[in-house]
Amino acid sequence: MLMCRGTSAARWTAASGILACALPWLAYSPGVQADSLMSQLLAWKVISSLAICVLALVLIGGWMLRRRLATTAAKLEAAERLRTSEEHLSLALESSGDEIWEVDLPNSSFRRIVPHLGIALPNHDGPIPTSQVLEVIHPADRETFISAFSGLVKGQSQRMKARYRVALKAGGWLWALSYGKVTERDAQGRAVWMSGVSRDISELMEQEEALQRVNIDLEHRVEGRTRDLRLANEHLRRTLDDLRQAQKQLVESEKMAALGALVAGVAHEINTPLGIGVTASSHLQGETRRLLGLLASGEMKRSDLDSYLAAASESSELILRNLRRADHLVKSFKQVAVDQSTEDRRRIDLANYLDEILTSLQPRLRKTRHRVEIDCAEGIQLETYPGAIYQVVTNLVMNSLAHGFEHQEAGLIRIGVRAQDGDIVVDYRDDGCGMDDEVRRRIFEPFFTTKRGQGGSGLGMHILFNLVTRLLAGSVRCESTPGQGVHFVIRFPLEPVVAPVPV
Ligand SMILES: Nc1ncnc2c1ncn2[C@@H]1O[C@H](COP(=O)(O)OP(=O)(O)OP(=O)(O)O)[C@@H](O)[C@H]1O
Ligand SMILES: [Mg+2]
Repeated sequence: MLMCRGTSAARWTAASGILACALPWLAYSPGVQADSLMSQLLAWKVISSLAICVLALVLIGGWMLRRRLATTAAKLEAAERLRTSEEHLSLALESSGDEIWEVDLPNSSFRRIVPHLGIALPNHDGPIPTSQVLEVIHPADRETFISAFSGLVKGQSQRMKARYRVALKAGGWLWALSYGKVTERDAQGRAVWMSGVSRDISELMEQEEALQRVNIDLEHRVEGRTRDLRLANEHLRRTLDDLRQAQKQLVESEKMAALGALVAGVAHEINTPLGIGVTASSHLQGETRRLLGLLASGEMKRSDLDSYLAAASESSELILRNLRRADHLVKSFKQVAVDQSTEDRRRIDLANYLDEILTSLQPRLRKTRHRVEIDCAEGIQLETYPGAIYQVVTNLVMNSLAHGFEHQEAGLIRIGVRAQDGDIVVDYRDDGCGMDDEVRRRIFEPFFTTKRGQGGSGLGMHILFNLVTRLLAGSVRCESTPGQGVHFVIRFPLEPVVAPVPV
């Protein structure tokens, strides 16, 4: 163990110790001086002792040599490894193109340890005054650069990172990114040494600038598009306003046209009975004057009185009939312009109410062989305008009798009523003669009738249309083909219409 750790001198001392131990054993040989055999034996003993000593020395020497060789080999290997890693490091530095620097703060000097960047500073690792370093920094970036360093020096930050432009030897500027840290501080904690790495990020900055330009361009484009869109929207809004205005005007003018047509129709319809009435009354007036003249002159005969009475009776009958006709027309016109505020609104049970309507129609139906079947779901309660429903059903039934069953003995009318999706749906069918396309298309027009001069005013379906669409806020559809009867589908909301559209 002693030999393992000692120096070479110590090792020799150890070997002599072994010899010293062997010699006393040689000296202790009983009967050496006896005879020659004994002396031979003694000689052999000496020789063998010496041989043992020599062998021991050889073994120790060999072992020490081996140790020395092993140490040398390890040292060589370590040196080789160091050299390789240094090579790797310098290769890495070279390929990275980064520059390594140090700052000696007390002496305000800068050292370029690995001066890779072609910046306008001496290209050696000797001290360069920091003032000279500051001069090569772009004036616009100097403040950023100084504040990054001073933060580190004052201990406000552990590491610094600065992006700045630095002048190149070849002219122009290079964008550099520096990372640095304090590597040594004095006892008071003041920074003494700093070291760091600087990297050329010009390409990155160019890309960033290009990206920024693209972004700005994009923003401008988006702004432009947004502006265009806003203008287009504004334009659209104005167009829409114009359209609404035009639509309003159209509706107004349509209303006016409809009103004009209605007035013309009213005038035309009333004209006939009134004209007949006027003619009859002027005839009566003339006859009366003539009779009075005869009476005054004393020339009146019995036959004159008889003829006057006959004319008076005929005229008054004509006048009355035509006045009644005019009265009927005026009532119909009033119905056209039905004002829902005067309409009674109340809660009804629809099935019961339809039965009541049917009962009220019996006097008309009883005289015929036509039948009306009503199929209404029980329990439909609704708050509505019963008068309107009455008028709708009556108009439909009267039309079936007057038009559909004109040439038919026994017609069938089926009225189905159901509540569906919050609506009341009335399905009205008759199996009468039906109507052609022209009649079907014009059926809701005011004064459209195929029975002009035969009691038809052409207002029944128009009144129905107004009641359903305006008062009941619903819709009506008519389907029919000649010979196939008619089919009306009327739909209106079950819920009461709070503010009905004025008609
Ligand atoms: N059930 C029906 N079958 C066949 N034609 C019909 C039927 N209902 C209506 N029409 C046609 O529609 C026209 C218009 O009907 P509308 O009720 O408006 O007028 P009208 O019955 O002729 O006159 P009124 O004003 O007296 O009701 C009718 O003249 C008739 O030609
Ligand atoms: Mg009618």
